[in-house]
Amino acid sequence: MIKSTAVPLTKDELEEFESIYAEIVEAVVKSNASNMEEEEMELVTEWMVKAMDYNIPKGKKLRGLMVPNTYRNLIKNPTKKNMKLAFVLGWCVEILQGASLVADDLVDQSETRRGQPCWYKLEDVGLMAVNDTFMIENLTYKVLKLFFESEPYYMDLVETFREITFKTVFGQCMDCLMGKCNDILGCFTMERYAAIVKYKTSYYTMYLPVLVAMIMAGKGSDKELLQTVEEIMLGIGYYFQVQDDFLDCFGNEAVMGKIGTDIQENKCSWLVVQAVQKCNDRELKCLLDNYGWNDTKKVEVVKRLYKDLELESVFEEYEKNAYIELVEKIKQLPLEIPGELFHMLLLTIYKRRK
Ligand code: FPP
Ligand code: MG
Repeated sequence: MIKSTAVPLTKDELEEFESIYAEIVEAVVKSNASNMEEEEMELVTEWMVKAMDYNIPKGKKLRGLMVPNTYRNLIKNPTKKNMKLAFVLGWCVEILQGASLVADDLVDQSETRRGQPCWYKLEDVGLMAVNDTFMIENLTYKVLKLFFESEPYYMDLVETFREITFKTVFGQCMDCLMGKCNDILGCFTMERYAAIVKYKTSYYTMYLPVLVAMIMAGKGSDKELLQTVEEIMLGIGYYFQVQDDFLDCFGNEAVMGKIGTDIQENKCSWLVVQAVQKCNDRELKCLLDNYGWNDTKKVEVVKRLYKDLELESVFEEYEKNAYIELVEKIKQLPLEIPGELFHMLLLTIYKRRK
């Protein structure tokens, strides 16, 4: 593993990023108070802050930090004002992520997220979580308006968030449709897997943070450059989701703060696609009989099969090669993009265990 020479965020900057979250909440609360005078709005605002604090700031902030990280490496000496805006923009990505996770956990019937019960699992939340996904998603646009309205690139940001959310929703739809499929051989192909991952994960996880930072830095209109960056970030996104799928079954739940549900939910996961390719007839029958059931014994049978098929070492081999290939692609980037930046972003997820 080679170290990247890109400029990382300083300790002070990381602290500033963290502290700006409270300022964002305050700005939204203030905006509610000045726009809606009904007494009941206080109750709603209280609920909104509770939903925000539970679902937005407690993750790894990988996506959010990617925004100032990218901006910092595109603009050598950013002004204090613009660096702050890059932090806020990072939080906008985290807000969208918070909304997506609330919805995803409902759909996947997950139990825990980020080391706490999923939002919909709370007694006083339940299906109200559906409305909360709308509420949190809309906060992305509220925050963009509050902090960026006077910037010349404001509408570009809004359009970008909207477009990429649309792609993500399509990806999530594909993911769920595959969950309903009982023709394992026909549905769980590598091509299909790649399509799901591109839309449900890579666009919003990897391309969005870099793209919005590029827009802020005035590099959002060079189509060729954007296409090159998109290709790299979708490649990193694919690797990220393969890790997610591997950890769903083989990861340490305490470290990850979530419990996997891919086998129960019949997901077109990287592991099942690998299994389909490696199974003999007997093993394939075993997979068909046991995959996609919310039944502890059946889940254990599938996990045993994955072990027998040595999918752990298949993953290790994949991870090693994916890293090498991505570094090679990064090296071929044109000089106008700091390849070191992409290498640094890749290193933040290389061999991650959560
Ligand atoms: C997680 O995949 C996938 C996502 C977080 C994307 C979810 C996207 C949506 C629900 C659509 C967008 C919705 C809104 C409200 C903006 P996973 O289930 O494989 O990952 P996990 O292991 O973290 O659950
Ligand atoms: Mg999920």
